[in-house]
Amino acid sequence: MAKCTISTLNRMKADGRKIAMITSYDATFTRQIEAAGIDAILVGDSLGMVVQGHESTLPVTVGDMVYHTANVVRASRTAMIIADMPFMSHGTPEQALDTAGRLMKEGGAHMVKIEGGAPQVDTVRHLTERAVPVCGHLGLMPQSIHQLGAYRVQGRDAHDAERILNDAAALQDAGAQMLVLECVPALLAAEVTQALEIPVIGIGAGVDTDGQVLVLYDMLGITLDGTPSFVHDFLADAGNVAGALSAYAEAVRQKTFPTEEHVFR
Ligand code: KIV
Repeated sequence: MAKCTISTLNRMKADGRKIAMITSYDATFTRQIEAAGIDAILVGDSLGMVVQGHESTLPVTVGDMVYHTANVVRASRTAMIIADMPFMSHGTPEQALDTAGRLMKEGGAHMVKIEGGAPQVDTVRHLTERAVPVCGHLGLMPQSIHQLGAYRVQGRDAHDAERILNDAAALQDAGAQMLVLECVPALLAAEVTQALEIPVIGIGAGVDTDGQVLVLYDMLGITLDGTPSFVHDFLADAGNVAGALSAYAEAVRQKTFPTEEHVFR
């Protein structure tokens, strides 16, 4: 399999071929993920919960993200690697540039992901004008858990839906080259995906985004606090990790995941 880059993902969107993405935090799973033909890996700050056992992603440090990104990159041969900018590491454009510099230079990431809409637009522009590829993240933003009060679907009312649509366009205008859309109604996700030229990757956002991402441990059914409603346990069907990862990649490509039971309306 050839190395996946942002050009590969842009072509996939243009051709209507679905993008399979998953989180990874270490070398061994990275090899298994790539053997399954998964296109892109997110070194998500979800590691704060699934690896470190915190109640939220907030305690994750830049050092943690650099460490896990480097673990993944060392083993990787084919996937595009996106690393999360953790909570309080991108408060100003200058701080964000320092964080992104570490994730790319020390960690080896190919792109960084930032949660947030309009308030992050200047930061995204600052990064993208300095050769830092950026993925936006809208909808449910886990770093805002204490403002939200709970991990729940976003964009259900017309005002919120319009804000998400506007934020998505503003991030693209600022130079973002990819967008993750988490836990939004499927119709809204489809509208955002159609409106944007950049690939839109959904999690709990229905089947009509350009691709899907899941937290690795969730789709293997090995969770601390239960499996979210938008996740399928692929290990239960496949019986082994390699089979589960291949089944996930295939289900994304064939649009058989997510199904109606995983979708918010
Ligand atoms: O941190 C993470 O794993 C994420 C995904 C849930 C999209 O941001």
